[in-house]
Parts: sequence; structure tokens; C-alpha cells
Amino acid sequence: MTNDSICAAAFVHSHVTAKYERKLCCVAKPIEGMEKTTTEEYWNSDYLRDARLKMIAGEKLADCSFCYNYENMGVTSFRQVMNGMYPLDNIINKVTQDGTLESSPSYYDYRTITCNLQCVTCDDNHSSKHAAIARELLGRNSQTKVDLQYEKKLGHEIISGLHAKTVDNIYWAGGEPMLMATHWDVIFEMEKLLEDPEYTDYIKSVRMFYNTNMTKLYWKDHFIPAILSKFNVTLWASIDGVAETFEYCRDGAKWDTVRENWLIYKKHIPNTSVTAVLSAPVLMDIDRFMDFFESNDGNMFNHQYEPNDYKNLLDIRLYPDDIFHTVIDHAIDRIRRTHLGGKESTLEVLEMYRKQKSDFSNPDYQEIKNHTQRRDKFLKNSKSFEELLQQINKPTYNWYVGI
Ligand SMILES: C[S@@+](CC[C@H](N)C(=O)[O-])C[C@H]1O[C@@H](n2cnc3c(N)ncnc32)[C@H](O)[C@@H]1O
Ligand code: SF4
Repeated sequence: MTNDSICAAAFVHSHVTAKYERKLCCVAKPIEGMEKTTTEEYWNSDYLRDARLKMIAGEKLADCSFCYNYENMGVTSFRQVMNGMYPLDNIINKVTQDGTLESSPSYYDYRTITCNLQCVTCDDNHSSKHAAIARELLGRNSQTKVDLQYEKKLGHEIISGLHAKTVDNIYWAGGEPMLMATHWDVIFEMEKLLEDPEYTDYIKSVRMFYNTNMTKLYWKDHFIPAILSKFNVTLWASIDGVAETFEYCRDGAKWDTVRENWLIYKKHIPNTSVTAVLSAPVLMDIDRFMDFFESNDGNMFNHQYEPNDYKNLLDIRLYPDDIFHTVIDHAIDRIRRTHLGGKESTLEVLEMYRKQKSDFSNPDYQEIKNHTQRRDKFLKNSKSFEELLQQINKPTYNWYVGI
């Protein structure tokens, strides 16, 4: 079946955000009234049965606009990735007339808010470390308390699915997955099952995708790369730039440590790629970024910067035309010339920035600068955004100090 609204996520995927909301997938809109539900409560809920029937009928869901917008801009959407992973005909045949599915989900993505970093692109919806910043800058009293019991319950759902051999994909993000107790419950159970001849091949076939900040090599006294190398793991290392740019963007992380960890992880898990958020600092410092990763080979899986709720200058589309075009033209040229895999999706995002530039007219630069300076006070390893610009892009620095 092909129609341009349907997404396999509604038929195979169980996702809980770091704030324990339910969504069809990580980029869909949160479903009202479904916080902290079990999958049994979610899976054949009114919402999901209705969503399945609408999608089968070719109706576009408002909650899925993120993917449809991407597709309109010529960028590969999560919907298209999901539909590539799961042939839709097989799934749809199993849906009853009222949208019920008897089969359980096979692709899990359960998150936690626990994190050790406060990356500038991120916010209090994803990281516990952002609570104080969001209070100061947004007046938000964010809930960043972990409900360990609920997270454990979710972990047990995955474990039951592994025992029943119904799980085929697991996505680990967060917060920081390497700090998530439930993640380790699942992994240690998988290690046990790996030793059981009835399960060995199955466990090796379960694909696990990680977004990790690469700050952790150990969970308690367990060496993480060696454990994960036993499984079918794809690791996306969130490394936004190198050196000063990295330490500014990945606020709280040290470049020397993460660079070392990247090399160690890569040795144990060949399927390790870099995934940078294509924010303004990363793009302004693209040469050093590309030089470093080209010397280490591999793939990149960079993605669009989604504006967070803070006012800042992380979005390249906010800059004056001359700065924007100089930075984007150079970045496109540099990426076109790379031998790294995955450059096509990065180029798609940069072309999308070009198309969307006119939507970002007349920002209040003075207000944005005030907020940026207030955010600077929380930086762990960098002094200020101004100092970073001075180091990586002189014309933009001159413009910024003149605001
Ligand atoms: C929220 S993080 C959670 C996983 C893990 N802590 C990490 O950093 O990889 C998931 C991904 O979102 C990215 N991210 C953070 N802020 C973003 C933004 N404003 N727009 C797009 N992606 C963002 C991170 O860099 C990371 O690759
Ligand atoms: S490490 Fe990941 S979850 Fe934590 S602050 Fe950074 S992007 Fe957000």
C-alpha cells in the first residue's frame, strides 16, 4: 500500500517521551491525556485506533505535520524511514474494522529525562540539567523528576517482548540512554538471553539504535562498548562540532574526553556515526568538523536544528542575509566534496534552510542578544557565545558585538 499519509509507526511503534507523554513517534505531537500509560492502555486506545483508520483511508493527521512538512521541503521524513523498515501491506491486513491490532508493538522507544549535560540546542523537555536554566530564562517550573517505577514497568514490557520474540527494533535516546537504569535492565536481560541457544540468533537480530552524548564509557563497573558490541547496534554519536564549538554546543562535555570516547566506541562498534545538530556554530565551523570526521572515516547522520523555546542565535536562518548565504554556501560546498557517507541527508537539510530563510525575517536581535548573555552565565566550559564567534567566525563576531 502506498498513500502519502500512512505511517508504520501507528502499527508497530510504542514511544514514551522523556516527560512520559505518548506520541506516535518522537517527532509527532503529544497525545492528550495519555501520560504515563502502559502499552496495553495505549495500543488499542480510541486515539490510536482512529489514527490507524484515518491513515489507511489516506487522511493526513495534524499530529504528523512534522513529517509531511519535511517531505514538502524535499527532506526524507521519519515516516518514510519507518515505511522503508516495515512493509505496510503485511501490517494493514491485520487491522480490524475498528482499528484494533491484536499483535503487540515490535519497535520500542522509551526515554528518560536523566541527563548529565545541558546542551545549548536542548531544553528541559529532554534534559534534567536544563531545569535551572528554564526556570531563569523561561520562568518554567519544569518537572524533571524521574519516576523509576514507571520506567521499570516500560523496561519490563520490552523484556517480555524479547522473551516472546516479538521485538525487532529498539531506539535508545533520552536524556542520556547510558544513564538510564531501565536501559541497563533490558541490556543485562539480553546478555542472559544471548547465552540461551533458543534465543542467541534472535537476540543478535534485534536492531538497537542509540543517540548518545558519548560522555560515558562505563555503567557502574561495566565497560559499555564491549557490552554493546555483542548486539546489533547502530550508534549515533551526538557530537556538534569539534574543540571550542563542541564545548559550547554540548554544554558540560569536554572535547578531549568525547574525542577519545568516539575512537574507543568506533573500535568496538563499527556501526558508529556522527550525528550533529546543524546549528549555526556547527555550520560556521564546518571545516574543522569535516576534517576531524574525515580523518576517522565512517558516516554522518546530521539533522536539522529544531528551534527550542529559548531565544538564541543557534538557528542559521535567523542571521542577516549576507552571513546566512556565506555560511550556507560554504557548508554546502564543503559537504559536497566529502567522501563521508550520509552527506545527501545533510545537503537536504541545508537546502531546506535556504528555502525557509524568508520565514525568519526581522528578528529582534537586541532581545535575542540579551537572552544569549543570560544563558552564557550557565555555560560550564565556555565563556560566552561572543567569545565562540570570535574564535570561529570574525565577520559574524563583528556583527554580533555591534548589536
Ligand atoms: C535529545 S537527545 C537525547 C540523546 C542523547 N542525550 C544525545 O544527546 O544524543 C537526541 C538528539 O537530539 C539532538 N538535539 C538536541 N537539541 C536539538 C534541537 N534543538 N534540534 C534538533 N536536534 C536536537 C541531540 O543532539 C541528539 O542527537
Ligand atoms: S546530552 Fe542529549 S539530552 Fe542531554 S542535554 Fe544534550 S542533547 Fe539534551
